[in-house]
Amino acid sequence: MLDQTRLPGEVVHVTLTTWPDVVDAIKAMVIRGAPAIGVAGAMGVALAAHQAAATSSTRQAFDAEMGRAVAELRVARPTAVNLEWAVDRLAGVIADHEGTPQEIAAELAAAARAIHSDEVDRCVAIGHHSLPLFTRGACILTHCNAGALATGGYGTALGVVRAAYEADPSVTVIVDETRPLLQGSRLTAWELAQDGIPYTLISDNMAAMLMSQGRVSHVVVGADRIAANGDVVNKIGTYGVAILAREHGIPFIVAAPTSTLDLTMPSAAEIPVEERAADEVRGLALFGMPAASPDAPVANPAFDRTPARLVTAIITEQGVHRAPYERSLRRAWDDAAH
Ligand code: MRU
Repeated sequence: MLDQTRLPGEVVHVTLTTWPDVVDAIKAMVIRGAPAIGVAGAMGVALAAHQAAATSSTRQAFDAEMGRAVAELRVARPTAVNLEWAVDRLAGVIADHEGTPQEIAAELAAAARAIHSDEVDRCVAIGHHSLPLFTRGACILTHCNAGALATGGYGTALGVVRAAYEADPSVTVIVDETRPLLQGSRLTAWELAQDGIPYTLISDNMAAMLMSQGRVSHVVVGADRIAANGDVVNKIGTYGVAILAREHGIPFIVAAPTSTLDLTMPSAAEIPVEERAADEVRGLALFGMPAASPDAPVANPAFDRTPARLVTAIITEQGVHRAPYERSLRRAWDDAAH
């Protein structure tokens, strides 16, 4: 996989040869973004099966090793539901299969590849559905990175941007840097530069000023998990952007595949929010020194909860959903046949 911790400075691919390596890569955010960690989790299960099939003398031994891999992979990160969704899909293949470990391993490899290509197809469909939401010369603000890096290809929020730009080359993008890990400045800006899509990078606290000046026409973000009522959990800072968008009368649009829906959650209140290491907040260096004392007390929730009432539309591969979201999201899930 492409090591996202090294971008934009270096393009480095790492090869992971065991499923615990995949767990570590997801935790360390070598790979990140909801659909992408789902794909990685599925690949991790397939890798585990390939190795367990070679070393297990019985189906029982194979199942025991797969049980360990599934249990650790599905919780490598807690917030994006795509990870447990994808790993559980592959676990279902194992449970339903009566064949040999070798046969199961082959089927899991095919299933993991199918999840990857399905996610990219979903992104392209999301981009297509979003086109009627934009007027000429749109200036789209996005937060975090919901691009090809975060999805396995094309992107959700950046898929929308890519489709809009293809239809109208006067589209421009405002990129929130996205403290503390800078997915906006490091990753989204890098992707947009690769595609030649014009963007302006801002620090997160500048969005209000630009909105008040009429310089943002739409906000488009991705999601890590969407509850049954349309509440959205996404990268920390998204909730603040949604409040700002409402204050300035700017549409706040969420782009996510149905694999990001969690209809078992009535609202976002029950969705777990990952708390990450304090040094991620203290770590930024400025003027040649750290921006905070090494012992500064820190809070570092990696995600926040945006209530459905602030969301203008949710776009899945099934179409554009508007409030009230409950029935429309349920139909999208059913039609996607998960
Ligand atoms: O902590 P990260 O970088 O994995 O968080 C990613 C996000 O919050 C993205 O916006 C979300 O996963 C959608 S990616 C299509």
